[in-house]
Amino acid sequence: MASEKKAVGVGVIGFGTIGTGVVRVLRDEGASIEERLGYPVRLVRVADLDTRTDRGVRLRKGVLTKDARALINDPKVDVVVELIGGVEPARTFMLEAIAAGKSVVTANKALLSVHGPEIARAAERRGVAMGFEASVGGGIPIIKVLRESLAGDENHEVYGIVNGTANFILTEMSDGHGEFEQVLAEAQAMGLAEADPTYDVDGIDSLHKLVILAAMAFGKRIRPKQVHVEGIRRVSSMDIAYAHEFGYEIKLLAVARDTPEGVEARVHPSMVPRTHLLSQVRGAFNAVCLRGRALGTSIYYGQGAGMMPTATAVVADILDAARNMRYAASHARPQGRAACTAGTMVPAYGRPVRGLHAARVIPMASTSHEHYIRLSVADKPGVLARISSILGKESISIATLAQHEGARRGVVPLVLRTHRAEEAAMSRALGRIARLSTVRGRPVVIRVEEALGSNGRVRADA
Ligand SMILES: NC(=O)c1ccc[n+]([C@@H]2O[C@H](COP(=O)([O-])OP(=O)(O)OC[C@H]3O[C@@H](n4cnc5c(N)ncnc54)[C@H](OP(=O)(O)O)[C@@H]3O)[C@@H](O)[C@H]2O)c1
Repeated sequence: MASEKKAVGVGVIGFGTIGTGVVRVLRDEGASIEERLGYPVRLVRVADLDTRTDRGVRLRKGVLTKDARALINDPKVDVVVELIGGVEPARTFMLEAIAAGKSVVTANKALLSVHGPEIARAAERRGVAMGFEASVGGGIPIIKVLRESLAGDENHEVYGIVNGTANFILTEMSDGHGEFEQVLAEAQAMGLAEADPTYDVDGIDSLHKLVILAAMAFGKRIRPKQVHVEGIRRVSSMDIAYAHEFGYEIKLLAVARDTPEGVEARVHPSMVPRTHLLSQVRGAFNAVCLRGRALGTSIYYGQGAGMMPTATAVVADILDAARNMRYAASHARPQGRAACTAGTMVPAYGRPVRGLHAARVIPMASTSHEHYIRLSVADKPGVLARISSILGKESISIATLAQHEGARRGVVPLVLRTHRAEEAAMSRALGRIARLSTVRGRPVVIRVEEALGSNGRVRADA
């Protein structure tokens, strides 16, 4: 068949959740994809260690293999899609595919947060495409926005809710459906959280995505170890109730700011004003806010994970790779070398990898924030005076104070909101406060994001 000859061949390594979704989209949308491209995209091979489990999609005989290398080296495979997750052997598979002249697509944020530039450099040198739209924000096309649509602007802020599992848990807690452990168990039963939820609830997944976003937005490389990370395990429904009283929702935010002093990069639970659009991102949805010098604030919202949203992003990258390949082939010089790759193919990071510079990351201790502090204190006179004296010695001033509940076994919750204070000073003060004989247990501290891009506010007048 003539169209079969012109087909772009795809090999998918990893027939799990996302791999199955990609196979489905390629099957169900085959005709519209061919219409868009002018030629078909054909699934040539699928590799998975487990070739027995029924994934609910039928593959032609001979397509499924256990051998990822046979897929990579199959001459009919033009685009290799890595969907196995983890660092190795995913990294090696991608580098081998690139060395074999194949374009590569991945959704693997854990891999890219450390080895993204290495793989992008290899792709650049070999003149093949590398796509990773699905690595951040699932079906939200945030990578393409940063790589292409906003290429004319200088971004200096990127922040948002990039983990659907954590956001689902916080939303359920905010709606009064229980404490963290209970809601986590519910999310696991619904398939929204892994059996081992560490990456999602401890902020590691958000960290990986933040590193990718910062590289795309600022052209700066941040090492994951340089980012301050806290998860949501210590958030309680009592903190959420106080947040509501003060006019906030608690969200797990990933925040990066490019400032003249360096890059601020952090992942932690934050109190987000209820007037800010991010506070209204509920359930498993994600949203990413960008602040550019020329554009100002823009917000991108949608399904942040899951089989079909993520698969859609993977397939869009496959189509981009197919277009690049065809264009390069049709403009090849007589000697066979592609004449146009540098001119037509947008580099993976929207700039050559040599243009990605190591970021000077501002240590968390040197950043300043407003804080919410909840203490369990003995119900005695003079306790508050001691605490405010310790805060005062570190030049931390109290903005609001709340103490509603009566004493239980002689202990009451004491809630403070501070004005902006340096993290180092706050940490010294909290260390001293925690050692007071009248203070029980570890203080709970949540940063208040009063300064989030004001253009993201819901009210036009805010
Ligand atoms: N799930 C989401 O919503 C989502 C969203 C965005 C991005 N992602 C990313 O997408 C990637 C895939 O995620 P997933 O949820 O689809 O994972 P998954 O369901 O665990 O699927 C991974 C598949 O790869 C197979 N595999 C592992 N090592 C292999 C190897 N060496 N050769 C061949 N197959 C191998 C696994 O087989 P075994 O099970 O037999 O080990 C499994 O079937 C990850 O990088 C993830 O971070 C996922």
